[in-house]
Amino acid sequence: MKHIEIFNSNLNQDTQKRYERWADYRAKIDDFLSPILADSTLEKNQALIIGCGNLDDLNLQTITKLFNKTTLTDVDLESVKEGVKRQGISNGNLEFIRVEVTGFEDSKFFDTFVQVIMETKDQDSIQAYIDDKMKIIETYHFLPDKSYDLVLVSPIYTQLIYHQILNITQTLRELGHDPSMLEWLEAYMLDLMPGVIERLNKNIMNILSPKGRLVVLSDIFQSQNGTEFDQLIKKAIQSKKETDKVYQYYQEKYGYGLGDFGLYDLDDSMKVINYRWMIWPFDQDISMVVKIKAYKK
Ligand SMILES: C[S@@+](CC[C@H](N)C(=O)[O-])C[C@H]1O[C@@H](n2cnc3c(N)ncnc32)[C@H](O)[C@@H]1O
Repeated sequence: MKHIEIFNSNLNQDTQKRYERWADYRAKIDDFLSPILADSTLEKNQALIIGCGNLDDLNLQTITKLFNKTTLTDVDLESVKEGVKRQGISNGNLEFIRVEVTGFEDSKFFDTFVQVIMETKDQDSIQAYIDDKMKIIETYHFLPDKSYDLVLVSPIYTQLIYHQILNITQTLRELGHDPSMLEWLEAYMLDLMPGVIERLNKNIMNILSPKGRLVVLSDIFQSQNGTEFDQLIKKAIQSKKETDKVYQYYQEKYGYGLGDFGLYDLDDSMKVINYRWMIWPFDQDISMVVKIKAYKK
């Protein structure tokens, strides 16, 4: 297993019976998808799902029963295969492809990243290493020459790379590494994230057929179960207008996150068909507020 795969495979390990707990959430996603998939102008040859993970957040049959072929992708394909088994779906019209969506794996970014930090301890050399890798990453494409009528993206913007960088800097901090250098490194990598997300979106738009539909789920903010804010958001979620208001308040207070950025970037290049807010009952302590948004070219 490679670095990005190991990191995500660990996150995908489920000890909390998520598939059972997320049944209602999956039903709400089905409900949102229903009119989009029923549209007679949508061709139903090939569907693609990005960031499948354990497939705990998607009733796979909603897609597979309509499309001739459904391609399932993730950097951690073992979890995807387990997820398909859990849903009792035969592999007839399924295809599994291991895809790393950012190009960081292709550039071998994490192969020597920690070593470079440990050995050089010097900001200029670390920056030169990152900038060199970014030149490779900036030209990265996945699934070249493919075309899909439906592309569905599971929440992934907030999961890309930066999370893994923070994990590394935290470990180095605990090992006594220079805190100001680590702070610089985190800020430098965070600045690169909009570019990473823009490239991911461009790659997605490239493989979406001209008449295709793109559906993206993005975790926008989170709430601690049982808090006052949690009660407010769970009440507001019944109404799009009320949730938009809470969102505006949250954004003014805390600013934009990577989850927002991914959708704003798509809004610039695609036509929005519809969107909806949903509560993703993530674990015992935390709920994610997710926006699901459907686009066409
Ligand atoms: C939060 S999960 C989405 C939930 C998932 N559909 C489920 O039900 O378990 C994000 C998924 O994105 C995948 N992922 C993260 N970084 C990735 C990358 N760079 N390339 C491809 N997949 C990645 C993870 O392996 C994980 O399965």
